[in-house]
Amino acid sequence: MIDRNHHICILGLGYIGLPTAVMFANYGFRVTGVDVNQRVIEQLRAGTPHIEEPNFFELFQNVSGKSLTYETAPVAADTYIIAVPTPVHADHSADLTYVVAATRAIVPHLQKGNLMIVESTIPPQTTDGIVADVLREAGWQAGEDILLAHCPERVIPGKIIYEIVHNARIVGGVNEQSSRVAADLYRTFVEGQVLETTAINAEMSKLMENTYRDVNIALANELVKISSVLDINPLEVIRLANHHPRVNILQPGPGVGGHCIAVDPYFIVEKAFQQTPLIQTAREINESMPDVVVSQIQRLTATVAQPKIAVFGIAYKGNVGDWRESPALKIIAGLQQAGIEVAVHDPLVVDRMKDFELVSAEAAAQNSDLLVVLADHQLFHDTLSETLLATMRQARILDTKNFVKLSPESSAELINFNHLFRA
Ligand SMILES: NC(=O)c1ccc[n+]([C@@H]2O[C@H](COP(=O)([O-])OP(=O)(O)OC[C@H]3O[C@@H](n4cnc5c(N)ncnc54)[C@H](O)[C@@H]3O)[C@@H](O)[C@H]2O)c1
Repeated sequence: MIDRNHHICILGLGYIGLPTAVMFANYGFRVTGVDVNQRVIEQLRAGTPHIEEPNFFELFQNVSGKSLTYETAPVAADTYIIAVPTPVHADHSADLTYVVAATRAIVPHLQKGNLMIVESTIPPQTTDGIVADVLREAGWQAGEDILLAHCPERVIPGKIIYEIVHNARIVGGVNEQSSRVAADLYRTFVEGQVLETTAINAEMSKLMENTYRDVNIALANELVKISSVLDINPLEVIRLANHHPRVNILQPGPGVGGHCIAVDPYFIVEKAFQQTPLIQTAREINESMPDVVVSQIQRLTATVAQPKIAVFGIAYKGNVGDWRESPALKIIAGLQQAGIEVAVHDPLVVDRMKDFELVSAEAAAQNSDLLVVLADHQLFHDTLSETLLATMRQARILDTKNFVKLSPESSAELINFNHLFRA
């Protein structure tokens, strides 16, 4: 049993680290949240978290400034949890500098018997390799002096608080004792199963989950490409095939974005290049979809002298404002490079964009020749009214998410992947 005087120090207070800190604090632990970004710490100390999630704020208020306090550098604790970013370099290899920096920052505070957990998504062999090596350099043997485990996170933005409690967790230690003690810590608030395994199996299972999705989305996108040479409706084919009791083909789309599905497969490729032709091809197919969409937009507007394209939705998926790695950015850049006028609308994105402005739905649609839906935000069902569509020069929608529903009386033309290569 882990006693509640146990002090947990969590490094990285982003989408993963902050909710994790809030959960542990709500379950009675003393928690120090650490972030190198001074602005994040000031905001948290002021009681204004930078993360919005259903049911989050109440849990945050219960503990913030009380059992959960904030620092810009680690403090001595019993357990350290690392939840810092793990992006990819331009060559798609994992950038582990944040993980190494966080581990090094913890080292001066370590005492024999402490537990260290890496929650960041990492390539296979990182826990037993790079992280354990940093400890070894400091004179600590991972698994003996310092318990060390990887516990990947699989929450989905928009449902983080629900999923952090109810999802099954995988806890992989560098030895059995590390797995057991780390798993017991999560069992204090996780209601899903907590599965103990080795560090490398935990690393790999997290990566395979997102790779599974990437490969299956690539299969659906390949079917869209097949429809350019065969007279089929790919969405109809998927609907029919999915009536098979053991088949679930995913939906095609304009590409894959976000910082998980579009990134994690590369962590496997990096470690097993020769053995991953399927994973690499899936990445290539999904990466090619923005170009497919751009060329279809050009084809659909080929007879218009100076077309204006209205883009609706730049988030990497529906109902969130996160645009990181979003294929929409590549589509907009592709249209701009082709000299095509683009007006972009996404009411959920609050950040300023570098290469274009975000405008209102009305300003985007006005006098446009094609309205392209790239994110399936629920609120677009209301926005895409007949009144709005009537302001277009030509009322045509290209729906890359198979999501728009027009009334049967609508005079607008709706094109989705069923008609993409024929409309
Ligand atoms: N966001 C998700 O939905 C999600 C889901 C599963 C896994 N993950 C993984 O979890 C990890 C964290 O992701 P995130 O979305 O929370 O990132 P984030 O960018 O939202 O937050 C990371 C925070 O870490 C801070 N940081 C960087 N270096 C630090 C250091 N040395 N010490 C302390 N703080 C430091 C940054 O300032 C930032 O505030 C990544 O590996 C990611 O792949 C994320």
